[in-house]
Amino acid sequence: MLTPLNGKQIILGVTGSIAAYKAADLASKMTQMGAKVDVILTQAARQFITPLTFQSVTGRRAYTDEDLWGNEGHVLHIGLAKAADLMVIAPASANTLAHLAHGMGNNLLLVTALAARCPLLAAPAMDGGMYTHPATQANLALLRERGVTLLGPAEGHLASGMTGIGRMLEPAELLGYIRLALSRGGPLQGRRVVVSAGGTQEPIDPVRTITNLSSGKQGFALAQAALDMGAEVILISGPVALPTPAGAQRVNVQTAREMLEAVLEAAAQADALVMAAAVADFRPAVTAGDKIKKEGGVPEIRLEKTEDILAAVARQKNALGRPLVTVGFAAESRDLLQNARQKLAAKKLDLIAANDISAPDAGFQVDTNRITLLYSDGRSEPLPLLSKAEAACEIMNRVAALLNTDPQR
Ligand code: CTP
Repeated sequence: MLTPLNGKQIILGVTGSIAAYKAADLASKMTQMGAKVDVILTQAARQFITPLTFQSVTGRRAYTDEDLWGNEGHVLHIGLAKAADLMVIAPASANTLAHLAHGMGNNLLLVTALAARCPLLAAPAMDGGMYTHPATQANLALLRERGVTLLGPAEGHLASGMTGIGRMLEPAELLGYIRLALSRGGPLQGRRVVVSAGGTQEPIDPVRTITNLSSGKQGFALAQAALDMGAEVILISGPVALPTPAGAQRVNVQTAREMLEAVLEAAAQADALVMAAAVADFRPAVTAGDKIKKEGGVPEIRLEKTEDILAAVARQKNALGRPLVTVGFAAESRDLLQNARQKLAAKKLDLIAANDISAPDAGFQVDTNRITLLYSDGRSEPLPLLSKAEAACEIMNRVAALLNTDPQR
């Protein structure tokens, strides 16, 4: 699957911090996502990790200060800097940040940073006391002012044995921000996309709920796909334990009623709404204030209907004209296309993703989906068995096409 890293040239600067060992994982992940990764190690970084480690995971030469004074020394940094789409310094030590802030160039990484005009991301990693020192803070403020994106640091266990702020963000998290930095300018640039994800929970009493098997995976993949295409993303999520894709604004909700409110508010300003959430259709008519006890016998729980969120969105669209494009999902175990087409019309959608949940490789909990796309103009488009990430890309491509081909949108 293509991600915004595909074919991009990224300089990874590695400096003197114990977190340097995690930089190898980051270099490997970026390479696996299709980037050409040129690693530059400072002298201090080499105390922690070798160039060979990076060469082994990137398949490219890793550079050190010996190259600065080697045969091509006078042009190497210019060549690297000019070719780069993005520069990432992870871990960024207090010393390197101080040098960067003051425009100094006494090693290969620093002269390359001075020569580069691409975006620069830096992930500080150091002891808590060093991080909070006024000198470091002033350097960070200078860098921020100059457009450097600082990622982290996080709080937690530090190499000193203490707990505090100063840990480098984990490679997976850094990768999210790298993905975000490289995705701007895509076909959804300047568009606001709202995605709902996960199942809702309808409380019976303070400890029990009625819920469903939605994992949230398809909705979170849709949010990531929209970010990858340059959109501003609002992700309205039921209670799922998935990490928020970097750059998405996450709104957590529990019940169908909370999701209704959050979706209506966000949809009023949205270009597109993709409702991937599995919203409960019924909720207990009354929520017990105290835990229901066994001694009282088997309780009878009377249910009532929840609001249909997409129907409410359609009514709001009549008044406000937004969202410009509405996409729904139909999870069906029988009469897939017939039921989906009926929902497409009833909920006034532009597109519905009909998902056959009776197949073992599709639907809730698994990583793949079998989807047929049905359009309001009668077209239908069966997609092959796809990972949820791939299905998300296909759907967001259709959303971009609907938004970008109609001059009214
Ligand atoms: N949906 C909604 N509000 C609800 C229930 C569902 O907006 N209260 C949305 C879902 O997010 C999905 C679409 O409607 O995009 C279809 O959901 P689905 O559960 O397949 O259909 P329902 O309308 O709930 O009908 P049924 O469960 O009877 O098949």
